[in-house]
Amino acid sequence: MSFPFTRLRRLRQSPKIRDWVSETTLAPKNLIYPLFIRPGKNVRKPIASMPGQYQISVDRAVKEAKECKKLGIAAVILFGIPSKKDERGSEAFAEDGIIQKAIRSIKAKVPSLTVIADLCFCEYTSHGHCGIVQGKEVDNDATLDLIARTALAQARAGADVIAPSGMMDGMVKALRSALDRGGFKDTLIMAYSAKYASAFYGPFRDAAESPPKFGDRKSYQMDFRNAKEALREISQDLDEGADIVMVKPALAYLDVIRGVKDRFNVPVAAYNVSGEYAMVKAAAKAGWVDGEKIALEILTAIRRAGADFVLTYHAKDIAKILGR
Ligand code: PBG
Repeated sequence: MSFPFTRLRRLRQSPKIRDWVSETTLAPKNLIYPLFIRPGKNVRKPIASMPGQYQISVDRAVKEAKECKKLGIAAVILFGIPSKKDERGSEAFAEDGIIQKAIRSIKAKVPSLTVIADLCFCEYTSHGHCGIVQGKEVDNDATLDLIARTALAQARAGADVIAPSGMMDGMVKALRSALDRGGFKDTLIMAYSAKYASAFYGPFRDAAESPPKFGDRKSYQMDFRNAKEALREISQDLDEGADIVMVKPALAYLDVIRGVKDRFNVPVAAYNVSGEYAMVKAAAKAGWVDGEKIALEILTAIRRAGADFVLTYHAKDIAKILGR
């Protein structure tokens, strides 16, 4: 049927009709809010490159968790800034490490909020790489033992979900076996499966104080020229026991998100990363774009591409808008 019998504008004639036929939803339960936890009490230190985001102490993190719960946000994901760094990133797996403390406090005060523990070493190591360094390389297999230890410490502290982000081969298997042996068969794994070596992480490395002291992450994170390789990464992580898989960053990788969603029948998360956030904030501050509208459009586009969840620094602001 063609014009004039078909008029596609009929479906766009009013807000009521447009809402009725809209294909994509964006709700607070689709959003995951990242928190940066540092030692101390009542600390709330602004992150210059991420306006509106802060490094906070555990007591403040509990307040944030309560607010997220009230706003209907699905979960928080925790990143730690330890008091001291060393070669092995020992505070990542210490029983009283910063993240373990934060998990315990949040689970004690807001038990119904899903708490995700990011599992990586770059914030904890003196060299800033995501594992054990031998010479100038990150030693994959030596890192797996530490990943397993860290996952157990996080699970014992009460994490609902462990999110390994180091892009080591076999990390999901190492983690799943350790969790199962430790009696944590119901602890979920959300794997950063297709994580690209990306310049969009710049502001995060300020926030988490985690830039590598030498070299880059290109021998473990993916090359941004590749999309098919992402499907191999995802399929491997699913075979190893991942429950939820992630594509990261999001905005420049919508094709990858779509490819993963079409191919695998599993929950897919996408990380709307620090650089994506900082660009919106900077342009909005300059008065060049409407920050709220742009954020809504971006997050909806990430959902439209196939992401079930979006990790985003916009989470609280957007949840407030969606709740109005
Ligand atoms: C650590 C990690 C990074 C991000 C999340 N976990 C940075 C990196 O790999 O250098 C980036 C998140 C963001 O930019 O918002 N492995």
